[in-house]
Amino acid sequence: MLLSAALAVSALAATAQAAPAFPGLNLKDVPYPVNALNSMSAYFNVVASKVHAARLLSEAPSCDLSKAQMPLGPDGLLPPAPGLTVRHVAVGRGTQNYTCDTGNATAVPKAAGAVATLFNASCVAALYPDVLDKIPSMAVHFNLTDDRLGPTVLQKSGVHYFTDATTAFFDLDTPTLDIGRVPCAKNSSGAAPTTASVGQIGDKAVPWLRLKSKDGATDDIKEVFRVTTAGGSAPATCKGMPATFEVQYASVYWFWQGKDSSDDS
Ligand SMILES: *[C@@H]1O[C@H](CO)[C@@H](O)[C@H](O)[C@H]1NC(C)=O
Ligand SMILES: *[C@@H]1O[C@H](CO)[C@@H](O)[C@H](O)[C@H]1NC(C)=O
Ligand SMILES: *[C@@H]1O[C@H](CO)[C@@H](O)[C@H](O)[C@H]1NC(C)=O
Ligand SMILES: *[C@@H]1O[C@H](CO)[C@@H](O)[C@H](O)[C@H]1NC(C)=O
Ligand SMILES: *[C@@H]1O[C@H](CO)[C@@H](O)[C@H](O)[C@H]1NC(C)=O
Repeated sequence: MLLSAALAVSALAATAQAAPAFPGLNLKDVPYPVNALNSMSAYFNVVASKVHAARLLSEAPSCDLSKAQMPLGPDGLLPPAPGLTVRHVAVGRGTQNYTCDTGNATAVPKAAGAVATLFNASCVAALYPDVLDKIPSMAVHFNLTDDRLGPTVLQKSGVHYFTDATTAFFDLDTPTLDIGRVPCAKNSSGAAPTTASVGQIGDKAVPWLRLKSKDGATDDIKEVFRVTTAGGSAPATCKGMPATFEVQYASVYWFWQGKDSSDDS
C-alpha cells in the first residue's frame, strides 16, 4: 500500500502540482534537453502504468526482496557468489571525480573516487523492476536538493564515498535503518550496455561493477554491484579540463549478504 501510494503521489505531483515543491529541472540550462525529456517521459509513463495497475489490486502487494532480480551484467562482470542473497537495493545519485594533468591535452583523465547519496529502492526492485530500470536515467538530470531524488519519494538509506584510492565505502546505517557499513574493492567490471543513458552533458554511462567487501564490513554484506548506470564518464582526454572535476551520475547499487558457498574449505 505504502509503495503504490508513493508511486501515485509522485505521478500526481508530476501532473497536478508540477512546479512547487519539486527540485528544479531547468531545461533551458540543460545541454541535452532531448535526452532529459525522453528519460523523464519514459520514467513517468512506466510509473503511470503501475499506478493504473495498482488500482486493480484488491490488496497491497508485499515487498519481498527474495523476488528482486538484479539485471544480468555485461561481458566481464562476474555474477554474485553462490549462496548470497539480496539485502538492500539503493539508487545512488552523486558525482564521479576525476583528475587531469592540465599540462597535457592528450592525457587521459584519472578516476579519483566518487560521492553519492543512496536511496532505498528495495521495494521498487521487488515489485516494479521496470520502474527501477528507468530511475537512474531520470535521476541523473536532477541535482539533489534536501536529500530528495528528483520527483520521487524514495527515502535516503545511506551514503557512498571513497576512504582511499581503492576503497569504495558504503554507509547504510541511518537513524531508521541499520543495514551495514561496507568497505569494498573492485572485483570486475563490464561496459554499460549501449542503450544506457548518458548524463547531464552527454557523458557516457560508467561501467557496471562487482565490488567485494573487505575486512571491517558489518552485517555480513559480502558484495556490492553497481548496475543500471547513467552518465558519470570523463571525457576521452584532458583537453580543456581543470586539474580536478566531477561528473554527475546515477546508478543502482545491489547489496548481497550471506555466506559464499563456493569458499567452503
Ligand atoms: C528499505 O530497505 C530495507 C532493507 O533492504 C527494506 O527491507 C525495506 O523494504 C525498504 N523500504 C522501501 C520502502 O523500499
Ligand atoms: C601526455 O599524455 C599522453 C597520454 O597519456 C602520454 O602518452 C604522453 O607521454 C604525455 N605527455 C607528457 C609530456 O607527459
Ligand atoms: C548540477 O550541479 C552541477 C554542479 O554544481 C552543475 O554544473 C549542473 O549544471 C547542475 N545541473 C542541473 C540540472 O541543475
Ligand atoms: C573476483 O572474484 C572471483 C571469485 O568470484 C575471483 O576468482 C577473482 O580472482 C576475483 N578477481 C579480482 C580481480 O579480484
Ligand atoms: C569529489 O567530490 C566531492 C563531492 O562533491 C568533493 O567534496 C571532493 O572535493 C571531490 N574531490 C576531488 C578530488 O575533486
